[in-house]
Amino acid sequence: MDSFIIEGGVPLRGVIEISGSKNAALPILMASIAVDDEVSYANVPDLRDIHTTIKLLNILGREASLENGVVRVKNGTLGKEAPYDLVKTMRASVLCLGPLLARLGEAKVSLPGGCAIGARPVDQHLSALEKMGAVFDLESGYIHGRCPDGLRGAHIRFDMPTVGGTENVLMAASLARGETVLENVAREPEIVDLANFLIRCGARIEGQGTTMIRVQGVERLHGCSYAVMPDRIEAGTFLIAAGVTGGELLLKNCPIRDMSAVVDKLRAAGMIIEETPEGVLARTGENGLTGVDISTRPHPGFPTDMQAQFMVLMCCARGSGLVEENIFENRFMHVQELVRMGADIHVTGSSAMVRGGRPLTGAPVMASDLRAGAALVLAGLAAEGETRVQRIYHVDRGYEHLEAKLSAVGARIRRVKDAD
Ligand code: EPZ
Repeated sequence: MDSFIIEGGVPLRGVIEISGSKNAALPILMASIAVDDEVSYANVPDLRDIHTTIKLLNILGREASLENGVVRVKNGTLGKEAPYDLVKTMRASVLCLGPLLARLGEAKVSLPGGCAIGARPVDQHLSALEKMGAVFDLESGYIHGRCPDGLRGAHIRFDMPTVGGTENVLMAASLARGETVLENVAREPEIVDLANFLIRCGARIEGQGTTMIRVQGVERLHGCSYAVMPDRIEAGTFLIAAGVTGGELLLKNCPIRDMSAVVDKLRAAGMIIEETPEGVLARTGENGLTGVDISTRPHPGFPTDMQAQFMVLMCCARGSGLVEENIFENRFMHVQELVRMGADIHVTGSSAMVRGGRPLTGAPVMASDLRAGAALVLAGLAAEGETRVQRIYHVDRGYEHLEAKLSAVGARIRRVKDAD
């Protein structure tokens, strides 16, 4: 396994190019299963989860390959099974369920296990697809779905705005017979990107980005070329890197329109974030950072995927900030690691009170999940001394060429192999 060794205390200065969005690319690549044609995608980030998705598409009979940020998916005879060995490494594999049912009328997908941040069930995915005519058996860890008469449009209201549930059903509804109305859907920008891809393939969708989406099913989706949107969570992570190191970063391709909740809170905490013709410029104002409270919510609220990173900013601020996690039941795994670096954080239930003002000190720490790992990298950049972040395979899932991007703006960070 690899680790990052970080020598902290260097103000980061320079330009960082934001990569394509992992959480847009994954469903959009899966949607190629619903397309009866070749598809090519641009701006696809070179990440572990992308390679896993490409492997899954090849297992399912779609010849897929990634070259210089472009993924080409050829047409082919579709298989129906997503095996456990692959699904256990990436929960988002469950997103092949909807398109497979829509194309083949059958799908066998391993139940995604839980993960470090929570149980992450898929009950909403299944109950919505059942309303569209699918029948599911859960046997020996696999979801076996069938809809011999094909999927039919339905009126579906989710119990909570689930991102993956909305994406699975959106792909299925694109090829269902008749109209599907989806209510209480997720409004994340990645959902809008997926809908825009499907529309480019001939789907008839409206309302994406609002709480209600209407889909008129079509017979077939044709191929197209599509560029994936930039990654708003990677961008938010780098904004905070500027804040915690006292530097100044210019982010190119930063989707700031999709980041209002984060940018508002960063500004409230004392950061200066300016849109310029070259990109988004971020630095900490001359009065330094002050504590502010955040509460994670579905989009357009403060994203849960930025919670761990924001906590590090609060560690570097004067005063205190209350961090409330409302989406996942176990997304404070980074707290104990930050406490080992000298942070003053007290967790009570789903809230963490962060008292800033004490400098962080470098220490050996361990990543437990993707965004916790990113937070520990930020803490290492801010801390005095050396920090070793172990198990950075978690970070490699969602940050393209992270150490290269950070080194290019002055960070002292290197990747080392741990003696296994
Ligand atoms: C997506 O996960 C993202 N992953 C996550 O990003 C992100 O944290 C999450 O949305 C919330 O924004 C991808 O897009 C690949 P959900 P997803 O279904 O779809 C509950 C990252 O760091 N729920 O919106 O799995 C669930 O337990 C990752 O990039 C059900 O109860 O999230 C959770 O509490 C981490 N039943 C809440 O809804 C269901 O059937 C939100 O989950 C589905 C979800």
